[in-house]
Amino acid sequence: MRILLLTHAFNGLTQRLHAELGALGHEVSVEFDIADAVAEEAVELFRPDLIIAPYLRRAIPESIWSRHVCLIVHPGIVGDRGPSALDWAIQEGESSWGVTVLQAEEQMDAGPIWASETFDLRAARKASVYRNEVTEAACRAVCVALERLAAGHRPVPLAEAGGRGRLRPLMRQSDRRIDWERDATATVLRKLDAADGFPGVADELFGQPCHLFDAWPESGLGGGRPGEILGRRETALLRATVDGAIWIGHVRRGDAQPAIKLPAAMAFAAEAAALPDLPLADWWRARQATWQDIAYSEGDGVGLLHFEFYNGAMGTRQCERLLQAYRWACTRPTRVIVLAGGADFWSNGIHLNLIEAARSPADESWHNIQAIDDLAEAVITTESHCTVAALRGNAGAGGAFLARAADLVWARSGVLLNPHYKNMGNLYGSEYWTYLLPPRVGEDGAREIMRNRLPLTARAALQRGFIDDCLELDADGFATEVLRRAAELAAAPDFPRRLQAKRDARARDEARKPLARYREEELQMMRRNFYGFDPSYHVARYRFVLKSPHSWTPRHLARHRDPVRGR
Ligand code: COA
Repeated sequence: MRILLLTHAFNGLTQRLHAELGALGHEVSVEFDIADAVAEEAVELFRPDLIIAPYLRRAIPESIWSRHVCLIVHPGIVGDRGPSALDWAIQEGESSWGVTVLQAEEQMDAGPIWASETFDLRAARKASVYRNEVTEAACRAVCVALERLAAGHRPVPLAEAGGRGRLRPLMRQSDRRIDWERDATATVLRKLDAADGFPGVADELFGQPCHLFDAWPESGLGGGRPGEILGRRETALLRATVDGAIWIGHVRRGDAQPAIKLPAAMAFAAEAAALPDLPLADWWRARQATWQDIAYSEGDGVGLLHFEFYNGAMGTRQCERLLQAYRWACTRPTRVIVLAGGADFWSNGIHLNLIEAARSPADESWHNIQAIDDLAEAVITTESHCTVAALRGNAGAGGAFLARAADLVWARSGVLLNPHYKNMGNLYGSEYWTYLLPPRVGEDGAREIMRNRLPLTARAALQRGFIDDCLELDADGFATEVLRRAAELAAAPDFPRRLQAKRDARARDEARKPLARYREEELQMMRRNFYGFDPSYHVARYRFVLKSPHSWTPRHLARHRDPVRGR
């Protein structure tokens, strides 16, 4: 089928559908929902058999839905309607939720139903549920809908579908407001989770208006007046509740221009500096219920390093701290180091928000890329251990190559990889990608991946040779299986031989072309991106960080607008 994805943005769900439908042999093109006339033009150009709207913020015009079958992916159970489906479900503590695929008609979300899926609703952030359960359920539901369409079925009218959902209004900040004098910790967390990563909860810190994001529970510390800021740890602030305390990891200040989401203790740097520091003794010991971005545990010859960085963005200091932790892990009497990343993202490369907020974004870009390169170099040159990057969550740009710096890359099947940089204003990229990529996918394959700038499912990444294994498991199953395999690797009788072979290969590579030269060449190009006359990277970063609305669909996605590929 020719399938047009009409969407507000190429978000994770749209990326996943694009990749999955393409893999099923459909011809897929994308158009951003910018204006009715532009959408009509896209339909005219592509002549789709079917239109799918994975992520729309407004209704499809009648001129389109009255002539073409348009399937809307709604992140809600059958009967649920309205723009804040997940927000209400999380805030009201639903125990199960779902995704419905319905046909677009006059009334929004009220068309007949083609397919629906349900899932257990975790106590987690909205963005995380969307990226995991909603995305998985949406892929399944879209596939069922396609099968039913192909088989000539008819959709079930909403009135006959019998769902327990209902029409809910847009959730407003007044619905989200935290009453620090009354709300228990669990309620505060639920409100913050329901608003993360967008729009956050409007509140105040140090008397300044701001939006709060990235809440972490705290089980040990507490005391103080409800709402009071009790201390800081690295970039997070601890705030008292009526029955305990929670950590706030990120905020967007209302009085700052431009208003960028930043680590809380950096957004309020002066105020945070005056607070008591609450460091973790034994930083490496993984704990429950506190703010801990880097955690280490070990057993069966395996060291497991988690790094839970918000949105997978890795700023200069985060890279430096992770490097320190990694070096320490290398001194442990283990054989295998598993780099586990975070739950939703393994890494998305350098921290574009911190760069945008820096006094000199060019200088901060430079420092950040050096810091992430140092980390990649340490992983590549590790002689003491076998290294595994275990991707439970997605990886993009430099983060995908940082993963590839490990000897082995294992990914969960639901993971998406974006191993390319060009979408960020033609950024050349570093992280030793020129050393790491070609041997895995071939010179032509490397050129193609970089040029196409498209997401790869873990399965596709395995087929291309970018990763070493794709495990068809959910997040918990993946974590268990990674540990089992890593322990097996550590216990393998041929482990010493394997380690020696790795050292020899590195030495041969080094003799052929020193690692430092790859870095020098990449950074020469990056210097141009950061300091040169072409401002594309700075413009693209600004637009990305500020979430500027799209005014056109990039050609590599809108194949109907490409005179050669669109035919
Ligand atoms: N720095 C700062 N924030 C980042 C980031 C980065 N490198 N990568 C992603 N984010 C943030 C997004 O702004 C978004 O923030 P929000 O919580 O305010 O909504 C969040 O992470 C999720 O990203 P989003 O783009 O919505 O996820 P996605 O699944 O649709 O797309 C990527 C994933 C990786 C394709 C996309 O995030 C991306 O292009 N990131 C930039 C990668 C990059 O160019 N890095 C620099 C070069 S190394």
